[in-house]
Amino acid sequence: MNDILVTGATGNVGRHVVSQLAEAGIPVRALVRDPSRATLPDGVQAVRGDLTAPETLEPALRGVDAVFLIWPGFAAETAEPVVEAVAKHARRVVYLSAHVPAAGDDDEPTIFHQQVERLIRRTGMAWTFLRPSGFAVNTLGWADQIRQGVVRWPFGAASRSLIHEKDIAAVGTHVLTSAGHAGAAYVITGPERLTQAEQVRVIGEAVGREVRWEDMPPQEARELLLASWGDPGFVDGALRGWESFVTSPETITDTVEGLLGRPALAFRQWAEDHAADFR
Ligand SMILES: NC(=O)c1ccc[n+]([C@@H]2O[C@H](COP(=O)([O-])OP(=O)(O)OC[C@H]3O[C@@H](n4cnc5c(N)ncnc54)[C@H](OP(=O)(O)O)[C@@H]3O)[C@@H](O)[C@H]2O)c1
Repeated sequence: MNDILVTGATGNVGRHVVSQLAEAGIPVRALVRDPSRATLPDGVQAVRGDLTAPETLEPALRGVDAVFLIWPGFAAETAEPVVEAVAKHARRVVYLSAHVPAAGDDDEPTIFHQQVERLIRRTGMAWTFLRPSGFAVNTLGWADQIRQGVVRWPFGAASRSLIHEKDIAAVGTHVLTSAGHAGAAYVITGPERLTQAEQVRVIGEAVGREVRWEDMPPQEARELLLASWGDPGFVDGALRGWESFVTSPETITDTVEGLLGRPALAFRQWAEDHAADFR
């Protein structure tokens, strides 16, 4: 079997794809921008490459059979030459996309995933799209507030089906190493829905501390997010998305279980796995 190239190999999902493939004895290359700084499992080859500089990807892609592709938060316009370079070398690609709840308008924060999916469909590669719900790991953003015992954020009643990053990786690994997934777009989610206020309670229980939720007015969150993200379209799109989960809880599927033959990991499991990050 030729190598599998994993992009985003040091990130939340990619690091687990790398280790799960390596554990299965599959030859895996990890694309990293700086090999001297990357911590990778034994036996995994680090290859240098930058997704914003497609010409740097050629050596990493040579002799590769399949690619686990992620697209970090930059504009989709730069994706075209990257997708072309991948298609020149690989027979198949598994793309970490996102689930877009409703047909999104142009401000949808996940719209660039739809553009990258379109680029991939146009190639001759066998493709599979992973469209996860929100990542449980996003709740690490509350870590400082959890330590203080109060999380202030908007939309405590927003109900989400957050997915463990290990499950996204396990589905990716399964799809990369078994047949029958070409042309599939898998909407993958956690096994249950929890409101944001409930998520905070579960994290508190895993950490052994009482933590309460306090609803922040959305306008206050908007100002905070504008200061850190800049782009008003992105901020408003994100706030609208979160608000929508109050009245339309996030989709839930049993696709993880269908593919892996075991239930998706619960948010409580995720919180226990990450308890040290909140202490
Ligand atoms: N968070 C969510 O709720 C959610 C939901 C659905 C979909 N998604 C999608 O999931 C993806 C993020 O996955 P993640 O959380 O696993 O990633 P992550 O933890 O944010 O890590 C980003 C990875 O991309 C690499 N990277 C960044 N810029 C790069 C570049 N120019 N060239 C090569 N590599 C680069 C980083 O490597 P370095 O070590 O070089 O920095 C790192 O390995 C995004 O596309 C996001 O839209 C997220």
